[in-house]
Amino acid sequence: MENLKVVILAAGQGTRMRSEVPKVLHRVLDKTMVGYVIEAAQEAGAAEICVVVGHQSAMVKNTIKDMYDNISFAVQKEQLGTGHAVMQAGDFIKDGNILILCGDTPLITADTIVKLADIHESSGNSVTVVSMIVDEPTGYGRIIRENDAFSRIVEQKDANAEEQAVKEVNTGVYIFKAEALNAAFKKLGNNNSQGEYYLTDTLEIIKNEGGKVGIMIAEDEKEFMGVNSKLHLSQAIAAMRDRINTKLMTEGVTITDPAATYIGKDVKIGPDTIIYPGCMLEGRTEIGKSCIIGPNSRITSSHIDDCVTIQMSVLVDSRVKSFTTVGPFAYLRPNSSIGEHVRIGDFVEIKNSSIDDGTKVSHLTYVGDSDVGKCVNFGCGTVTVNYDGKVKNRCRIGDGAFIGCNTNLIAPVEIEARAYTAAGSTITKNVPEDSLAIARSRQENKNGWRKKVNK
Ligand code: UD1
Ligand code: CA
Repeated sequence: MENLKVVILAAGQGTRMRSEVPKVLHRVLDKTMVGYVIEAAQEAGAAEICVVVGHQSAMVKNTIKDMYDNISFAVQKEQLGTGHAVMQAGDFIKDGNILILCGDTPLITADTIVKLADIHESSGNSVTVVSMIVDEPTGYGRIIRENDAFSRIVEQKDANAEEQAVKEVNTGVYIFKAEALNAAFKKLGNNNSQGEYYLTDTLEIIKNEGGKVGIMIAEDEKEFMGVNSKLHLSQAIAAMRDRINTKLMTEGVTITDPAATYIGKDVKIGPDTIIYPGCMLEGRTEIGKSCIIGPNSRITSSHIDDCVTIQMSVLVDSRVKSFTTVGPFAYLRPNSSIGEHVRIGDFVEIKNSSIDDGTKVSHLTYVGDSDVGKCVNFGCGTVTVNYDGKVKNRCRIGDGAFIGCNTNLIAPVEIEARAYTAAGSTITKNVPEDSLAIARSRQENKNGWRKKVNK
């Protein structure tokens, strides 16, 4: 649809969340609720988006601005109702088609928005509302029909017993022609049980002015699930998890227990990769094909090539090339780049380092701020001593070097290609190519010592 302008309502406090965090900033998996709504609008081809903020407006605004470009904001100082909230968008709604979405319905899809826009346009409606049929309508505005056509929407608190029995309810999603909406705003009052300016009342006003009001009945009520409490939040997370996992399985990813696997919307995974339970894959993570991930791994914004195995490990902002194995119990901190056929074993931490192809860091080792060549072998318990209390320094380790067990490498220092360090050494000077460095005190045996002290 051309000139589709989107107003997202996000000014409410969300009292029932019992939280210091504004409601729309609560996360469903790795993304804020309002983020999903913005993305659905963008995917549906929205020309412009305006978010109405109010409660904790600065925090909501800044969080959204950090994530998305080209979003404008309107401030609703006092929450005087959904109609009042939309009015605050001012010039933004002066022309075009105005789609209204709520910041607390993260499951809305672009497909549904496109469908709504098509119906709105092809029917020549002044406004089209999305309704849904529910078993338990309590809390929702009821859609009252007359001879099947739209009559009005009555809110729960204003409905009589007969109206309360109606099971077709307002999802809170609509497209308005801007002129019809603005004309209706001139007549909108707040004479109702809550003393609020209800957006829902504008539909009846438009109808009474001779405008055409259409209804689109939603196919899947889940999409319009509003999150008002922490219980709802957990239900939204479960629904989003199922949606994302189903799509990935359709694309050929094996997820052995989808109910115990949490994958973000932006994560990409290749076919024949197996994800075992207890994994959280987040942010802009990309995983290639035929990998084995998990059980119990958390991978955030990392890039993993094909045929990689990652068991019970945590990876953040890192890169792992093909045929490498990570874990169990490894921690790749930001800016770690691991080559092909590398082995990162148990209780190994890597930070801001590159490790080239064929290298083995098998156990109990810290590699920070280091550049490690190909086919290096780290003995157990190696530490790169990268921090002197003031600045971080780098270690360089050449191809084919062999670092003995329990070596301390005091940075800045370089171990050149094929050099060895003896176990237990504390290395403070560069070690030339093909050399052996021993930096520990010699062993001295005191013969018969035990008998002397116990005499
Ligand atoms: C609203 C609808 C109801 C519908 C339901 C669907 C009205 C009057 N009622 O009711 O018919 O069935 O949504 O979920 O519209 N907001 C503001 N400023 C305000 C008031 C609300 O920004 O002054 C925002 C809220 O933050 C929320 C959204 O608008 O994101 C909906 O408001 P809410 O109070 O939850 O409306 P409901 O009572 O659920
Ligand atoms: Ca609501």
